[in-house]
Amino acid sequence: MFLPQLMALVEKGEKLAALTCYDASFARLLTDNGVDILLVGDSLGMTVQGHGTTLAVTLEQMAYHTEAVARGANGRAFIVADLPFGAYQQSPQQAFAAAARLLTAGANMVKLEGGAVMVESVRFLVQRGIPVCGHLGLLPQSVNTTGYRSQAREGSAAARLIEDAASLENAGAQMLVLESIPAVLAGEATQRLGIPSIGIGAGPDCNGQVLVLNDLLGLTEKPPRFAKDFMEGAWNIANAVSGYVAAVKGGEFPGREHSF
Ligand code: KIV
Repeated sequence: MFLPQLMALVEKGEKLAALTCYDASFARLLTDNGVDILLVGDSLGMTVQGHGTTLAVTLEQMAYHTEAVARGANGRAFIVADLPFGAYQQSPQQAFAAAARLLTAGANMVKLEGGAVMVESVRFLVQRGIPVCGHLGLLPQSVNTTGYRSQAREGSAAARLIEDAASLENAGAQMLVLESIPAVLAGEATQRLGIPSIGIGAGPDCNGQVLVLNDLLGLTEKPPRFAKDFMEGAWNIANAVSGYVAAVKGGEFPGREHSF
């Protein structure tokens, strides 16, 4: 799937259902069950590799998993791949080389973390034909600074997030992940933006939702408060995934109990 097909869903007012995905079998299953966006997240450092953070994931590992996901999806889903820590923060040129590697592996878009500091790189990539998704709020690659706690809870940080979102959009970003921020703030950012917002722990008012697949499958030892185990009462994985897609598209997930 390419960007115009995805944007057509947003224009119709349909919520986008996204899940992280790391291999071909799940790519096929998630696509068969209506997931629009497969995010090859650097969360694979935790879910697949067993690290405590995403920081150890390399560009070649991201390319390997992106290739597998692209083969499984076989053109039927929109694939976003994370630029991993250390592979893009140095310069727009470094970001371009890393993004090109992930696009040749089969990604349709790359995601990078950060606001104002990333604007130059976003513009550089977009001008060279690389679709970019921004990521604001809780930034797992900055865990050493912030820890894993919800972000932008007070006035000045909330105002900065709104400014960062506008700067990323002005630089050409075509999508924005909002992670672990107050639902009201995510709703306000979504209202102001002309590009779709994808929430995770950001309340019900985003244009779409993403969950870490392992959280949805009930495989995470200490899942975050905003996650929901869709395996409960689902009998099998396909039912859990289609239940998630229906809940996102029907506006039932996330509920207020999954929001800050
Ligand atoms: O890597 C990942 O799984 C992510 C999501 C938390 C959005 O970036």
